[in-house]
Amino acid sequence: MNAPAIPTGTDLIAEIQRLKKARNAIILGHYYQRPEIQDLSDFVGDSLELSRKAAETDADVIAFCGVKFMAETAKILSPQKTVILPDLKAGCSLEDSCPPEKFRRFRAAHPDHIALTYINCSAEVKALSDIIVTSSSAETIIAQIPPEQKIIFGPDRHLGGYMSRKFGREMLLWPGVCIVHEAFSETELLKLKAQHPAAPVAAHPECPPHIIDHADYVGSTSGILKYAKESPAQTIIIATEPHIIHQMEKAVPEKNFIGAPGADGNCACNICPYMALNTLEKLYVALRDLSPQIEMDDAVRVAAKRSLDRMLEMTADQSGAPKMDGDLGPRDLAHRG
Ligand code: 13P
Ligand code: SF4
Repeated sequence: MNAPAIPTGTDLIAEIQRLKKARNAIILGHYYQRPEIQDLSDFVGDSLELSRKAAETDADVIAFCGVKFMAETAKILSPQKTVILPDLKAGCSLEDSCPPEKFRRFRAAHPDHIALTYINCSAEVKALSDIIVTSSSAETIIAQIPPEQKIIFGPDRHLGGYMSRKFGREMLLWPGVCIVHEAFSETELLKLKAQHPAAPVAAHPECPPHIIDHADYVGSTSGILKYAKESPAQTIIIATEPHIIHQMEKAVPEKNFIGAPGADGNCACNICPYMALNTLEKLYVALRDLSPQIEMDDAVRVAAKRSLDRMLEMTADQSGAPKMDGDLGPRDLAHRG
């Protein structure tokens, strides 16, 4: 059944703020959301920061402005809360690349490997994993895994490959990619660099190696934002989803940020089509109707929480000091959802 129409003349921003109070809701937004949604969010962050906020909040409702795997993560960490996502179709190409049954079979074929899994995956795949990582936590986590322990890294082969090169450590990589970061063009990037020879490049590790090779900084969305603020450069080329530039322009309006180009030099192919599904209208309706909500099987949730909790524990001190006692080896898959 379709949601009731929005009355003509509704002041969406005022109504969202009113409903947020009435529902005791918090709005969590990712940097890739439309600027108007970022501006309405109580907190804007990267995947790790948003997970922490979701785990800590005392709000009754989490309105998650991001993609489904992020809202699911909020539900896994805060099951007693109502978690709403403006558009349930906001998926992710990395999640789509990794169907749980295929992943289960892959794990079963490599029983001596630990599964480090990027947070961009379904709750079912989290439940089949040992430790979840994000782009800002992967390095800290891998540094704590004994060198002799074999690793499966999925579903992002570029983040996994980047970590593998960084640590000089072989890993079995799942062949998934982010369609957004995959679309950057090396040829066009080199042309842009020639036009702005003093501009450093900041890139997300979801980019393929031919883009990473030209980067002066590689990090998560929060890391790229910090670099943009702190770099002495006046012009910076940003190789990640361009909506993050909104936060950069707010923080340092005197600097010039240029989105890295796609294949025809000027396409919108680097806009995440899934993130873009969330709109103010859908956020308003979600808060008004408390729908669509994230729901999941309890056994899956409990198993997925174990691998997420491991990430949160292992990064409680981002200095890299080991936080886990005991066995970091692969766990028995028999009890997984
Ligand atoms: P981070 O915000 O954790 O860097 O991840 C980016 C991303 O893939 C969002 O889909
Ligand atoms: Fe998935 Fe890429 Fe969109 Fe992030 S930017 S949600 S990894 S498709």
